[in-house]
Amino acid sequence: MCGIVGYLGEREALEVVMSGLRRMEYRGYDSAGIAIPVNGHIEWRKRAGRISNLDGDLADDPLPESTVAIGHTRWATHGGPTDANAHPHVSGRVAVVHNGIIENHLALRAELSGEEFTSDTDTEVAAHLLRRELDRGADLVEAMRTVVGRLEGAFTLVAVDALAPDQVVAARRNSPLVVGVGDGENFLASDVAAFIAYTRDAIELGQDQIVRITRDDVEVVDFDGNPAETRAFHVDWDLEAAQKQGYDWFMRKEIFEQPRAVADTLLGRLNDRGELVLDEIRMSPETLRRINKIVIVACGTAFYAGLVAKYAIEHWTRIPCEVELASEFRYRDPIIDPMTLVVTISQSGETADTLMAIRHAREQGARVIAICNTNGATIPRESDAVIYTHAGPEIGVASTKGFTTQLIACYLLGLYLAQVRGMKYGDEIAALLQELERMPERMQDMLDAQQQILDLAEELKQEKSFLYLGRHVGYPMALEGALKLKEIAYLHAEGFAAGELKHGPIALVSEGLPMFIVVPPKGRDQLRDKVVSNISEVRARGARTIVLAEGCDDEARAAADVFIELPHVSTLLQPLVAILPLQLFACELATLQGHDVDQPRNLAKSVTVE
Ligand code: F6R
Repeated sequence: MCGIVGYLGEREALEVVMSGLRRMEYRGYDSAGIAIPVNGHIEWRKRAGRISNLDGDLADDPLPESTVAIGHTRWATHGGPTDANAHPHVSGRVAVVHNGIIENHLALRAELSGEEFTSDTDTEVAAHLLRRELDRGADLVEAMRTVVGRLEGAFTLVAVDALAPDQVVAARRNSPLVVGVGDGENFLASDVAAFIAYTRDAIELGQDQIVRITRDDVEVVDFDGNPAETRAFHVDWDLEAAQKQGYDWFMRKEIFEQPRAVADTLLGRLNDRGELVLDEIRMSPETLRRINKIVIVACGTAFYAGLVAKYAIEHWTRIPCEVELASEFRYRDPIIDPMTLVVTISQSGETADTLMAIRHAREQGARVIAICNTNGATIPRESDAVIYTHAGPEIGVASTKGFTTQLIACYLLGLYLAQVRGMKYGDEIAALLQELERMPERMQDMLDAQQQILDLAEELKQEKSFLYLGRHVGYPMALEGALKLKEIAYLHAEGFAAGELKHGPIALVSEGLPMFIVVPPKGRDQLRDKVVSNISEVRARGARTIVLAEGCDDEARAAADVFIELPHVSTLLQPLVAILPLQLFACELATLQGHDVDQPRNLAKSVTVE
C-alpha cells in the first residue's frame, strides 16, 4: 500500500525513480509524485490518477536534471485521491513521502496552526515538523529522530532537504522499507522491485530504524540514535521476472508461472534417507512434539490457503488446527500459550492485520512460523521462523502463484509435523512428496487446456452473478474462485460449502445462474457422492452447472452443462489443480469486460494499514 522510492547516485534520478514507481504501481494507483532538491529549494510534480498522468505533467513541464530524488505512488487513506493530496508534501526546504497512517495527525495539525496546510493528508504534518527541526539547526537524521518521536501509528517516511541534498533519509515503523545497495549509488524503496534493474543487493531494515543513504554509504540508527542491526540479502530474481514478458497482464503471466513456482518451492526437500527436510523451521523435534494446537492466521487469499492447510494438517498430524482471519484474531482474546504454534501466511510479508496478529501471538508466548514470499519483509523478520515460498515477484494485485505456493508450504509443514511426531512413516511421506513433485506437470496440463476456459468466459461475459460450491478442500476453492471474480471483474460472486446450500443460499439459484462446482476425486468416503447430489439439486432449479471433476467421473460429467476435467490426484492436493481454471476464468472475464486486471479499483497489493 503506497510505494516509495528514494535515489541518490550518478544517474538521472528522475528516470530511476519513475521506473521504480512504475514497478510499484501495484501498491497503490490513486496518485503519484516526485520531488528533487535543486539549488537550495525543492522542485516537485504530483498528480492524481495513474503514473501515466504524472508522465504527462513531466513531459509538459520537465524537472531539472538531478541525481537525487524521492517519489511516491499512493493508495489513499487520509484525504481523497486529488492532486493536492498526492505526495510528496513539501514544507519549505524539505519534501516528504509517506506510507502508513499517522494516527495523531489531527492533534499535530492543531499544534502547527501557524503553518499553511495545502492538503487533507495526515502526512503533511510530518513535512512541517521536519522543516521546523531543520530550521532550528538539526541535520536531517536528527530532525527525523525528533519527528518520529512525535508520531503515532505506522509509517515509512522518506525525506530530502534542499539545503543538504547529498543524502536521503528515511524512517520506518510498521511499514515496509528496504535499501538497495549499488556501486556509487543507493536506493530506498518499499519493495526491491523498485530497484531490481540496478542492483540485487539489499539491506533489510528493522522496526523503528532511521537510515541515511549517501552515494557511497548507508548508515542505520535506531530511534534513539544508536547504531542499529540490519540484515543484508541478495534478491534471487531479476528484472525479467518483474516484467510481463509478452503477456497482457501480470496476473495472466503469474497464473502460467505456477507450475515453475510450485516446483521451485518444493525443491530440495528430501534428504538421502527419503526424509522431508524443513531446516528453516528452527524448532527442535522435542518442541514440535509438545505443540498441542496450531492456529493459522492470514487474510484474503492467504486465509483460504490456511483453510486448506487445516484439512491437511489435522488429517496428517491429528493436532487440532484453527484458522482465523488476522483482522479478527487479536480482538477476540484468542486462547494461545507457549504450546500453541501460530502459522501466518502472507505473500507480501507486510499485511498489517497479519503482523499485528503475530505480535499478539508472541506476546502470549506462542511460537510463530511465517509462510512468506518476500525476503526482507516485516512478517518473516518478526516471526520465530519462516518457510519461504519461491514464487518470484507477484505483481498482479489478485494473488495466484502466491496462493498455490502457499499451499505447497502448508503441505510441507503438515507433512514435516507428521514426520517429527511419528504420525506418518517414511514411505507415506515419500509417496505424498512424490505426488507433490508430479503436480507441476499436472498443473501445466491444466493450463495447456486453457482454451475451454477462455471460451467459457466469452460465453458468460454478460452474466452478473456467479456462485461457487465445494466441500472439504473444495470449499476454500469455491471461496477463492469467487474472490478472484469479485476483485477483478467487480461481479457478484459467492462461494459456499456445498452442504450449506440447502440451509439458505439455494434460494439464490435461478434459471441460468452460472454455478462452478468443485467435485472431489472418487474416494473411499461419500464426499464426492454428496457433491454430485448437490449438482443435481441446483440443476433441477435451473442453474447452469460448470463442473470441475476428474475425467473418469461419468456421473459428474452427466450432471454438468460444462465439464472441466481435472487430473486424478489425492483429495487434499486437489486445490493445486482445481484453482487454475477458476483463476483463468476470472482473468479472462475481467479482460473481456475491459477492466484493468492488474490494478483493480479500490485495491492495492500489500495492505499495510489495519
Ligand atoms: C486476493 C489477494 C488478497 C491477499 C490478502 C493477503 O487476490 O491478493 O486477498 O491475499 O490481502 O495478502 P498477503 O498474502 O500479502 O498477506
